[in-house]
Amino acid sequence: MLYHLTYMFPTPLNRTWMPHYSYMFTPAQLAFLVSCLAQTSSLPGPILEVGCARGHTKLHLNQHMDACGLEKPYICLDTFSAFTERDIRYEVHDRKKDPRFTWHGFGNNDQRWFDRAMERNGVHRVRSIQTDVNEFYFSGIGTFPSACWMWTCISRRKVESW
Ligand SMILES: C[S@@+](CC[C@H](N)C(=O)[O-])C[C@H]1O[C@@H](n2cnc3c(N)ncnc32)[C@H](O)[C@@H]1O
Repeated sequence: MLYHLTYMFPTPLNRTWMPHYSYMFTPAQLAFLVSCLAQTSSLPGPILEVGCARGHTKLHLNQHMDACGLEKPYICLDTFSAFTERDIRYEVHDRKKDPRFTWHGFGNNDQRWFDRAMERNGVHRVRSIQTDVNEFYFSGIGTFPSACWMWTCISRRKVESW
């Protein structure tokens, strides 16, 4: 019955019960991130992710950390309101990036949703910080990270010693 209804009236709600691939990254890219965790596992320092969006990749990587007993803090920075207009201008005009990319698409987000998603999934090592990375002082994190993924524009960053 549910099948016939969703076939006749397809809506985005179908996604709630039909399997779908929810990552922005390909399996190979996710595998690469996992291999980075393995290669840096003996290093001290937290894992740092700049541009964590809604947290899909975090769930994947934290499942992996649970599975192999890798215990480190995982710090996530995001504006939680998409790319800034200044960064979009720089990426599109100066770096000739595709203006059709979903620059504003990440705006439908909220730090509370992200934190709740982590909590609901039993992920307790993740700490989120709402900030524009270009204004953020990394020294505030304390220890130098053991691994860092950066999914944002850092055009305006001043060089800063850790
Ligand atoms: C491509 S998405 C990251 C995808 C994500 N890593 C995942 O797991 O699917 C880029 C993210 O960077 C964030 N972002 C863009 N510019 C930023 C900035 N200047 N400072 C902090 N976060 C930023 C956006 O809000 C968005 O959530």
